[in-house]
Amino acid sequence: MAIDKKFVDQLVIVTSKAALASSYLVGKKDKIAADKAAVDSMRSNLNNFDIQGRIVIGEGELDDAPMLYIGEKLGTNKGPEFDIAVDPLEGTNFAANNLPGALSVIAIAEKNNLFKAPETYMEKISARVNEKNIIDLDFTVKQNIFNLSDYLNKSPENLTACILDRPRHKKIIDELNRLKVNLKLITDGDVSGALLVTEEKYDVDIFLGVGGGPEGVLAAAALDSYNCSFQGRFLFKTEEDKLRAKKMGINNLTKKYELNEIVKGDTIFCATGITSGDLVKGIEIQDNEFTSETLVTHKSSNLKKVINLKQKLK
Ligand code: FBP
Repeated sequence: MAIDKKFVDQLVIVTSKAALASSYLVGKKDKIAADKAAVDSMRSNLNNFDIQGRIVIGEGELDDAPMLYIGEKLGTNKGPEFDIAVDPLEGTNFAANNLPGALSVIAIAEKNNLFKAPETYMEKISARVNEKNIIDLDFTVKQNIFNLSDYLNKSPENLTACILDRPRHKKIIDELNRLKVNLKLITDGDVSGALLVTEEKYDVDIFLGVGGGPEGVLAAAALDSYNCSFQGRFLFKTEEDKLRAKKMGINNLTKKYELNEIVKGDTIFCATGITSGDLVKGIEIQDNEFTSETLVTHKSSNLKKVINLKQKLK
């Protein structure tokens, strides 16, 4: 069933208010405070909605997170049942250090349609491709690049790959360099990194590498509306991580998930800029008003656009 379009307007307000709350702490070198401001705002606004919401991706499990924890129920307990994935502040370093790219992000789907991802790393790959067997986590970097090069009719030297700049990616980055693929190395923020494949204007052809699992689910929710491909595979380091995943219902710990196993049915995704970045501009405050930019997708209405909103400060 389609999710009512009225929730698009409501969710844009939720992420824009969370972004505003966090924006007051931009550049204050305090990731925790910047995150908390966004969490508090998002939670209290979601609780005003006539929905029966349940957090599937949030700030962590109840033991680690008092608010927006996995399983927390949100809303007035009237209205449709939704799975809710949130990252009230995606890019805590960006906000704390006043760097580009901090976002406030939410995605919703109907109940049981969003993957409940554990707080662990995920191997990810995405591209502006809607056919199978072009890019795949099981292929080598070289094979993925050659396939994509054929598919997009662009030589590897004209392709750009986005990847988190981390020592764990040395092998992948070395191989991309050997293939003469252009790199867009990002220091953080791989929800945005994965979404740079959605439109040619961003000049990124493939996103790959290991980042947060919850961020993978959020990115997948938006990529689904763009008809882009995405695969993810969780990586569990410790026995404790593995046990926790099993408790969450993940029995095959090495499974490669396709986009349609991570996100099903209709979805709404909203990402509001806190600081300006590749996808959207950050919060701007003038007198008693603030302006926000939000990238919004709503699968069933084929909505994919940046919404600019001016709202009163109080
Ligand atoms: P936070 O907003 O929680 O700080 O996450 C930022 C981020 O860059 C994510 O976008 C990414 O998935 C993850 O951290 C990567 O983790 P790591 O810094 O451990 O490589």
